Amino acid sequence: MKTVYLVTGGAGFIGSNFVKSILKTGNKVIVLDALTYAGNLNNISPIIRDDNLIVCSEHRRLAEVVLDQSGNVTNVNHDFDKERSIGKYGARVVKSFDVEDLQKAVTDCLQVHDAIFIHGDISDSAVVSKIMTSADMVVNFAAETHVDRSILDPGGFIKTDVYGTYNLLECARKCENIKKFVHISTDEVYGSAPTGTSFKESDSINPRNPYSASKAAADRLVFAYNQTYGLPVNIIRPSNNFGPFQYPEKMIPVMIIKALANEPLPVYGNGLQIRDWLYVDDNVLAIELVAKEGEAGEVYNVSGRNERTNIEVVRHILHRLGVDESLIKFVKDRPGHDVRYSIDDSKIREKLGYKGGEHFERNLEKTIDWYLENREWWMTTLRSDSQYLEFIHKWYEERR
Ligand code: NAD
Ligand code: DAU
Repeated sequence: MKTVYLVTGGAGFIGSNFVKSILKTGNKVIVLDALTYAGNLNNISPIIRDDNLIVCSEHRRLAEVVLDQSGNVTNVNHDFDKERSIGKYGARVVKSFDVEDLQKAVTDCLQVHDAIFIHGDISDSAVVSKIMTSADMVVNFAAETHVDRSILDPGGFIKTDVYGTYNLLECARKCENIKKFVHISTDEVYGSAPTGTSFKESDSINPRNPYSASKAAADRLVFAYNQTYGLPVNIIRPSNNFGPFQYPEKMIPVMIIKALANEPLPVYGNGLQIRDWLYVDDNVLAIELVAKEGEAGEVYNVSGRNERTNIEVVRHILHRLGVDESLIKFVKDRPGHDVRYSIDDSKIREKLGYKGGEHFERNLEKTIDWYLENREWWMTTLRSDSQYLEFIHKWYEERR
């Protein structure tokens, strides 16, 4: 019997890389994703068929996702009328089920397919409880993830990162088939690391922005469900990921795209802040390893062992693209900016035999090449995602 993973946020950056990897190692996957601005079905296009999409709106009305021939989402229609709409767009779509039929739909679909995509919200207990009965493992990636957005508007972070995680945990504790609940936390929960120190899992946490505070709340809730109810959980705290399919709001894709457009590269403050860069493939392997081998109740740091100042990374990108450093523009700093992230990941290496990390320059070059070869993927967001354009305008206007 194949293991069935329920992967929340599986249409986002790390989640989509994880989904594709876990399918290659002979598992089944149910992706649950609300397709927020950061979720993109194109990220998992190799697994999407016209009959493995299940669409269930968060308000429990029927809804549909419409894709064009290239797999781009052209419409999410929450007032979907099945009779009226099927086939109307000539699109490669969609199965739609009322939430009450969801459990059966998932079971039936899993008999035919190794992967299913369900459009839904982790905060919707009716949807989550129906899906979870078919899963052996839960891996929770779903979150609002961008620190800058959390500074402008923290509400959505509390709703998804805290309440959504609580909802998944509640469903999991009532669901006897769940063998492991793996939660993707972040190294940001520790807060800024003084020079010369790297945080261990046993160190206290000290989040300093609304994103990291909401992630810290979720992280401790997951732990509480282990200690209080005996739910078999693992908490993973990875450092800054980079690689293919990262949404173009995070530093590395922002800098690549600005350099390609010959526009100023906005470096916050003096650019001497330090991040520890973890290639997404390494993180995916670490998460698979923890899901399979991690001891229940344990927290695992995952480091890239690649601490670099932001300005070093920006200079490397410019150099690789042959663009002049005069494009660097030091702008107003992020409020509450953590100066340095640094974690000690000897636990996952010693206990579980994890071997990833390092090779930053080589993986950065691979990442730059991916953005060069996949312009359409990010250009679509730049051209047509109104939430992206609105955020970029507001945030960077304030930094000038
Ligand atoms: P992302 O922003 O690229 O993707 C998030 C995904 O979650 C999207 O597909 C989005 O549609 C989905 N989502 C958001 N709200 C949802 C909801 N209410 N219900 C269902 N789906 C929802 O994020 P990412 O960078 O891939 O990060 C994935 C996870 O890893 C997050 O939990 C993040 O906190 C954590 N993390 C990220 C990094 C990093 O550097 N990117 C590092 C450490 C930890
Ligand atoms: O450490 C893990 C965390 O890394 C994850 O939990 C978060 O989801 C993820 O977004 C990331 O947070 P950061 O704030 O570290 O990542 P970001 O890419 O936004 O910024 C990296 C550094 O670059 C940070 O010091 C701020 C700086 N920066 C960022 C942007 C977008 C700039 O100087 N200019 C920019 O335009």
